[in-house]
Amino acid sequence: MALPKVAVIAAGSMGAAVGRRLTTAGLTVFTNLDGRSPATRSRAQEAGLKDVSLSHIAQHADWVLSILPPKDAYNFAKAFGDTHASSATNRPLNFADCNAVNPETVKRVSSLFAGTSIKFIDAGIIGGPPQDDYDPTFYASSAPADADVLNEFVRLSKYGLKIKALKGEGADIGDASALKMSYAGIAKGVIGLYSTMILAAHASSPATAQALLEELTISQPYLAQHLIRGVPSMLPKAYRWVAEMEEISNFVGNGLAATRSGAQIGDATKGEPVHEGHIHYGFARLYENVARSLEEGKGGDVTEVKVLKDFVEQAKKVLPRKE
Ligand SMILES: NC(=O)c1ccc[n+]([C@@H]2O[C@H](COP(=O)([O-])OP(=O)(O)OC[C@H]3O[C@@H](n4cnc5c(N)ncnc54)[C@H](OP(=O)(O)O)[C@@H]3O)[C@@H](O)[C@H]2O)c1
Repeated sequence: MALPKVAVIAAGSMGAAVGRRLTTAGLTVFTNLDGRSPATRSRAQEAGLKDVSLSHIAQHADWVLSILPPKDAYNFAKAFGDTHASSATNRPLNFADCNAVNPETVKRVSSLFAGTSIKFIDAGIIGGPPQDDYDPTFYASSAPADADVLNEFVRLSKYGLKIKALKGEGADIGDASALKMSYAGIAKGVIGLYSTMILAAHASSPATAQALLEELTISQPYLAQHLIRGVPSMLPKAYRWVAEMEEISNFVGNGLAATRSGAQIGDATKGEPVHEGHIHYGFARLYENVARSLEEGKGGDVTEVKVLKDFVEQAKKVLPRKE
């Protein structure tokens, strides 16, 4: 059987590593570098990706994996759908949106392909870019009528990707993204909670932060261990987590909270409804401040980043004595 031809858009840190996995397994992997930065071009080259036009992809690829900044996911899908529609063959192919977008966004993306020969898979990647001894998991869901396409997506596992289908009662487009939002909302939300409370304690007084540290290491040592690892690794990624926290807010607001109260996320300062959807909106603001502090803190002033780093360093010293 002929090997599938896959297009990966784009060769960012995740897309290039995914592309490299597929080329290492012997697949032809296309990408499109129009307007892309030198860093992306060099990652694409190192991963062995072929730079071709979108029209070439529409005419030759069996799969398109969209792995982009989440804010560009819809516009790319639209541009690709338009190119495919105007291509001479209008041949069947499959499109997997692998971005960290909320389920409403992924449903809008999928609706772009309704009535066309493009079949759609909703995918969410949990974990970092694939490395020699490490695989993130692609969770995937489809419309019930496209169960065969979902099975075909899972078969790409043969070429070095770890893919799990989300099947069972009610599974549909939007569910893989909902799973990704729920997982990230816990994993990255917990780090946001640690950081927020450390900063709030320090804002009261440095002595309060010190007392918080002592108490945590005595009565919740597992939380202290977790924050020692999680807070420093968040710092360089804080700028990326801002948009992701906002997507999670919309997911919670449009799903859980809205079903209960009928309310979309409101602006609390204007007296609009406040509910669970605001939790991650708050973390988005935290990560925005951390990213800004990282940028401004190079002069050595007491910035939010310094407060967090000092807390972690202190916790590292105190913890072994408490165990
Ligand atoms: N990295 C991870 O650990 C990770 C984990 C799980 C999920 N993901 C998901 O994977 C997706 C990509 O993340 P990433 O970390 O790979 O991002 P990234 O490293 O910032 O790379 C983004 C790539 O997209 C390109 N790009 C930007 N705007 C574009 C556009 N309008 N059209 C086509 N290409 C465009 C960028 O090119 P330029 O260099 O020219 O800007 C760059 O190559 C996101 O949805 C993210 O949520 C990432």
